[in-house]
Amino acid sequence: MAVSAMSSESQGNMGETPMLLKSRMHLATQNPFVGLDEIVTENQPLAPHTWYKIGGPARWFLRPRNVDELQDAARRCVENDIPIYVLGLGANLLVGDNGVNGAVFRLDADHWRRVKYDGNTVEVAAGADMQKLILRTVREGLAGIECLAGIPGTVGGGVRMNAGGKYGDIGAFITSVQVMDVTGMLFERTKDDLVFDYRSTNISAKFILGATMELEPDDPDRIMKRTKEIWMFKRNTQPLNTKNCGCMFKNPRGLSAGALIDQAGLKGFKVGGAEVSEKHANFIVAHPGCKADDVMKLVKIIREKVFDKNEIHLESEVQIWP
Ligand code: EPU
Repeated sequence: MAVSAMSSESQGNMGETPMLLKSRMHLATQNPFVGLDEIVTENQPLAPHTWYKIGGPARWFLRPRNVDELQDAARRCVENDIPIYVLGLGANLLVGDNGVNGAVFRLDADHWRRVKYDGNTVEVAAGADMQKLILRTVREGLAGIECLAGIPGTVGGGVRMNAGGKYGDIGAFITSVQVMDVTGMLFERTKDDLVFDYRSTNISAKFILGATMELEPDDPDRIMKRTKEIWMFKRNTQPLNTKNCGCMFKNPRGLSAGALIDQAGLKGFKVGGAEVSEKHANFIVAHPGCKADDVMKLVKIIREKVFDKNEIHLESEVQIWP
């Protein structure tokens, strides 16, 4: 018995009847991730993975545990024309109510959360939580990224968007970024060819795998004091205890999107369960029962009103899927 089973295995497709082959191919078209079952789920609700807690499911949800699995899964997406999305902590993300007809990758296994300290240099994998990293670097007496205190996200998401605020951006501390394209090719981007602009970078590769940062040695108490001040500023000016996805719009050059929306008289303006925050007008708060569509409609109205008043087009800072 065992022998015959082995011999038919080793024959591969050659030993299959056309009927068997057809049914295998049919299965493959149904599930392009056959063999990756441990890291794939189908029709996975995305709302729990976002700060907004709204939006529909992902057709495929993948949590590769290492580079090999990531390469394998990404290549299968390419072969099967499946659009790829990469999820961080979902803090700056609005998923549409119909969800995403594609593959959503989440790099949250241990491998993607490694951090290595070597003097002033910190090597960190993309899935590491930025706020936890800040607390660690403060304790290690390394200053710089505390400017990101209170900005939720993973290191990968932070690098992708050049996360920051008035105290500084992550890009200022990055010396290299490890990336992978959709074909599974690995690259290292170094400081001399990296450009970090306001909430953007020139990294085009789909996957950010990790980053290396150069920080400044400083007294841990002094860095902690600064971290707390930045936190207090955020707590006093932003609706932190609500469901939101951070600032909805980028600041137009030299201006504040929040101030423009405020001046258009939109604080407290509602569509369904979505409301322009009374505390900071660049935040759209999702109340219980809010739909992604409510937020989208509100975004459209805000843009129209601000354009009518100032002839300024507000550009979204938040990622909107699909
Ligand atoms: N303002 C108003 N009304 C409002 C909100 C703000 O008049 O409703 C005024 C403020 O009084 C201030 C100016 O607008 O004079 C700027 O506001 P703020 O100081 O709050 O900063 P911001 O430019 O709105 C930026 C980042 C935030 C970051 C803060 C603090 C953007 C789009 N926003 O906000 O980042 O937390 O600085 O560093 O760059 C985010 O990226 O998600 C985010 C929230």
